[in-house]
Amino acid sequence: MKPRHLLFLALPLFVFAACKKAPQAGGSVDIPVGEFASLTGATASFGQSSHKGTQMAIDELNEAGGVLGKKLRLITEDDQSRPGEAATVVRKMISRDRIIALLGEVASSRSLEAAPICQQAGIPMISPASTNPKVTEVGDQIFRVCFIDPFQGTVLSKFALSKGWKKVAILTDVKQDYSVGLSQFFKSHIVENGGEVVSEQSYSSGDKDFKAQLTAIKGTQPDAILASGYYTEAGLIALQARELQITVPLLGGDGWDSPSLVEVGGKAIEGSFFSNHFSVEDPSPLIQEFLKKYRAKYNAEPDAMAALGYDSAMILANALKRAGTTEGAKLKEAIAQTNGFMAVTGKITLNAARNADKSAVMLVVKDGQFRYVETVAP
Ligand code: PHE
Repeated sequence: MKPRHLLFLALPLFVFAACKKAPQAGGSVDIPVGEFASLTGATASFGQSSHKGTQMAIDELNEAGGVLGKKLRLITEDDQSRPGEAATVVRKMISRDRIIALLGEVASSRSLEAAPICQQAGIPMISPASTNPKVTEVGDQIFRVCFIDPFQGTVLSKFALSKGWKKVAILTDVKQDYSVGLSQFFKSHIVENGGEVVSEQSYSSGDKDFKAQLTAIKGTQPDAILASGYYTEAGLIALQARELQITVPLLGGDGWDSPSLVEVGGKAIEGSFFSNHFSVEDPSPLIQEFLKKYRAKYNAEPDAMAALGYDSAMILANALKRAGTTEGAKLKEAIAQTNGFMAVTGKITLNAARNADKSAVMLVVKDGQFRYVETVAP
């Protein structure tokens, strides 16, 4: 009850601020687009990357004249990777900045915090990278430009089976909807296809010691271990697994995609595999062009979040042009009709469930780099 109370009290303040700052709807000089991201905190590399990609798209669009004759103004809020903070900053952008749409988040749990707020306010939200199915199930205002975890879990399971890894152990971060979902989808596919889950262990985001879980896993002699959480813990899990003389490969999902994975995991993570949204080694001209521009702008390598952040802003701009207005209901319809859009991370058609049916790639950690292994179509 308490937070609601506070918000209620603060509402006149927001309205006042909005009246002061934001120009009147219709006559506004630019188009305010919101973005929420984990720029700091445990998963800072997710937010920093998705933000760089998103900003790059907005800059490009504005350099080309903007959309609907106006410049896009990206308003970015940091949710600090903290539960609860996403809801706070998103409410603020809706009431204070009067954003016409919201881009974000990467982590599914944080997208799930924001989605009901956008749904209720009639503000379309496009998640670049949240793969848990529940995100877009919140309602018809909520979209994503990536594949979902029932697919990603299948990709990982098929990969394990193709390597002959039939006995697998699963280590899940119970604090993340993403990890819980991915483990579950992986498990159901592998069990239905002749595999066996010999151990299921769990931990919570922020944990540093995985020895008890890994010791239990070791006793069951798996062929591989799925660590379905984020890079923050995956590197440590790899280190501690090797310390315990567990030599089998680890498997992960897109949540592993961060330079920190190898910074923390070092040699211990070598030879492990994860699924992802794109590979920098993909010769596709769209990807290579994006790489060139991104390197020139940031002097850094883009990861999947950067590419997906870029795509989310481009999809929004494309829908704005087709809608011919920033008005919520029409914009939502236009986003829903996204069809065959040539994005960096693949061709994007939004299906009836507002998700994108796209291929995944499998990558291997080799010499401290993420090397392309194969592409898996939906
Ligand atoms: N798919 C992850 C989630 O839903 C987020 C993520 C996407 C992480 C892409 C890394 C790369 O939480």
